[in-house]
Amino acid sequence: MRRKLAAGNWKMNGLRADMAQVAALNVPAGVDVLICPPATLIAALAGGSVRIGGQDCHAKSSGAHTGDLSAAMLRDAGADYVILGHSERRADHFETDADVAAKTQSAWAAGLVAVVCLGESLAQREAGETLSVVARQLAASVPDGATAAQLVVAYEPIWAIGTGLVPSLAQIEEVHSALRRDLVARFGDEGAGIRLLYGGSVKPSNAAEIFAVADVDGALVGGASLKAADFNAIISALE
Ligand code: PGA
Repeated sequence: MRRKLAAGNWKMNGLRADMAQVAALNVPAGVDVLICPPATLIAALAGGSVRIGGQDCHAKSSGAHTGDLSAAMLRDAGADYVILGHSERRADHFETDADVAAKTQSAWAAGLVAVVCLGESLAQREAGETLSVVARQLAASVPDGATAAQLVVAYEPIWAIGTGLVPSLAQIEEVHSALRRDLVARFGDEGAGIRLLYGGSVKPSNAAEIFAVADVDGALVGGASLKAADFNAIISALE
């Protein structure tokens, strides 16, 4: 059985005053709750019942890379997870699938769970390329040797992020079942245990129907993870 995961991605939002939103989250027995705050808040938030993660890491463990953080640093600050390959990183920082794979290796070496993100653009969706795009991203962004304990995959259609637009439930199911097939084909039993999150405009009003889709093991939530009341409603839809 795959444990449900409610993951919040705060992006570049969150000051110390906002730590109260994490303290106010419910963590039901059957659900893993994860917040990925800005790195400035990781050490202060770590150690409670809400898991804490980074939003990116460098592929190397140390060195002359001004402004970057290594996976070992995130781990040292108390993070258990790191989001890698988010579409905003791919777009703003030109991260490639190979970069994401290298970062995933370094996350694993540091003892972090990697939440690897992938998803098609609107143009790719309209061109009928969604399944081939996500298959290619999965193959190239996830290194060999992935295990259920070390990897979470988040399907985040770029056009659904922060837009209020959500794919149909049939479209989500189509992608998640294709990703599951590929994970099982490549990683066997481990692939069957790797959690698949849906992300993109998940909110209290649509969470339950999305979580009822086969092979959706939780969500990666941006905007609606910033306020405890909204994220708690999403968490309870997973129970
Ligand atoms: P959103 O962002 O929930 O605000 O659409 C999701 C994400 O980018 O992870």
